[in-house]
Parts: sequence; structure tokens; C-alpha cells
Amino acid sequence: MDNFILQNGVKVPCIGLGTWENRDEQSVADTISEALKIGYCHIDTAAVYANEQFIGKAIKNSGVDRSKLFITSKVWNTERGYAKTMRAFEKTLNDLQTDYLDLYLVHWPASPSKYDNWAELNAETWHALEDLYKMQKVRAIGVSNFWIHHLEALLKVANIAPMVNQIEYHPGYRQNYVVDYCKAHNMLIEAWSPLGRGKMFAVPELIEMSKKYGVTVAQICVKWCLQNGILPLPKSTKPERLKENADVDGFTISAADMQIINSLQLASSSGQFPDEIDF
Ligand code: A2P
Repeated sequence: MDNFILQNGVKVPCIGLGTWENRDEQSVADTISEALKIGYCHIDTAAVYANEQFIGKAIKNSGVDRSKLFITSKVWNTERGYAKTMRAFEKTLNDLQTDYLDLYLVHWPASPSKYDNWAELNAETWHALEDLYKMQKVRAIGVSNFWIHHLEALLKVANIAPMVNQIEYHPGYRQNYVVDYCKAHNMLIEAWSPLGRGKMFAVPELIEMSKKYGVTVAQICVKWCLQNGILPLPKSTKPERLKENADVDGFTISAADMQIINSLQLASSSGQFPDEIDF
């Protein structure tokens, strides 16, 4: 699998396996085992997904060498602040049965709509990630769901700039302003829900294109992310879909078709906006 390269030189395998809502032990075991056989080597989880223990066990059982894998996790919103983040990280490591992470992210920013001290809270959490990075317990650090005002405030106090911002990104919700800002600051954008949680399968232009290229709409979405320089994290628990979502080397979306997707009506975000979430 090809790689994106972060600003610190760390290589990130181009397609990651999303694991949100996969929290049944047997299902996680089957999914991880199948994904590793197919060739996935990048797994994206988070403390709040409540599956880190199962993923850790499944990786151990697979016998795949830890060094061949790229594992991401995220500190949850209730654990913001320096000391709590440090504790949360140790639990994540323990649950995943590993002694380092490849990437650790702040899951959601504290926002001005909810916290008077939001900027300080994000800074404290971030300083914990910086220290974990300096201690070489993580190979890279970043954020998730940060909009420009959160990033600008963080960059004022950061000693190490975020290397990644993981956001919702699919043809129906493109967040170009965040993408442009992150690209200008050399932060890799990772796309959560690159299939729009399935909503993209009903978009006529994408159905049309899938027929034209002889692929599925899911493959169009994954390839469209990659061609826009964005790392997709499609989630599936079904072997044939896992295979399909990673099998996108055999075609290229033309510039004209990229333009069509990049201009689609924006109508299908999850509605989880960082300044509005109540979790
Ligand atoms: P399942 O896990 O049953 O395969 P997203 O990654 O945008 O959040 O979308 C995930 C949703 O899309 C899940 O409901 C997943 O269901 C479904 N899904 C993932 N890959 C495919 C695919 N190739 N074809 C159809 N549905 C898919």
C-alpha cells in the first residue's frame, strides 16, 4: 500500500480501516483478521469506540508484527487536560496491547460555545500529546474535528504543530475551507465517513460515474479522497466490502469528473459540528 508522508517524515498507509461502532468482540475479531489478510495495515480507533481491547486482542492473535502496522487512537472529550490525557493514553496503550501508537489525536476540540476556557483546555491536552511525542510513545500527533478557529488558537501555543486533522469528508460534505487551511499548514487531512455513512450510494452523479469506470460508488468515494490528497478511513465489517474499499488502484477519475464531484451539492453531513456537539 502507498503512503502519505507527514511533516515529520512518518509514512502513513494511504487507506485506513475505520472501526467506529464496531464494538462487538467477535465482529471486531473477524473484521481485523480479515482486513489484515486483505492487506490493510492502518487501523483507526478511539477510546470512545470501546473496541480498543478487542482490536488489541485481534492484532495479537493475527501474529502480524506490530512494526508492520499503523495504529491511530484518540483521546476522548471527558479526558481533556494534561493529566487526564496522559492517563487516557496509558489506558489506550494497555487496551491495544502495544507500547507505542503511530498516531494519537485529540478527538474533538473544546469549543467556545461550550467552554469559556476552551483555548486553554485544548492547549493543555495538546501539551500532553507533545510530551508523549517527545517521549517517543507516539510517532505522530494531531487533532480531529478541528475547525480553523480551533487550529489558529492551538497554533499560537503549540511547540509542535499538529501533523494531522481528521475530519468528516465525503462528496456530500467537503469542508474545503478546513482542507485548504490544513494543506497550507502541511497537516494531512484524514477523512472519517468517506462514504457519508452510506448516504453517497444514492447520489445520482456518483452512481453514473461508478458505471462509467466499472467500479462501485464506495470505490469512487475512496479514490476521490486519494486524488484530492486526503486519506480515507472507510469503515466496514463485511469481508467483500473491506476488499472492495481497498481495491482502487485499477482506475483514475478524470479531472473533469473530479470537478463534478468537487462541485456536488453539499447536503449530507452527519450534522456533528464541533461547535454544536453536546458530547
Ligand atoms: P458495513 O459495516 O455493514 O459494511 P463510512 O465509512 O462513510 O462511515 O460508511 C460506513 C457505512 O457504509 C457502514 O454502514 C458500512 O456498513 C457501509 N459500507 C462500507 N463499505 C461499503 C461498501 N463497499 N458497500 C456498501 N456499503 C458499505
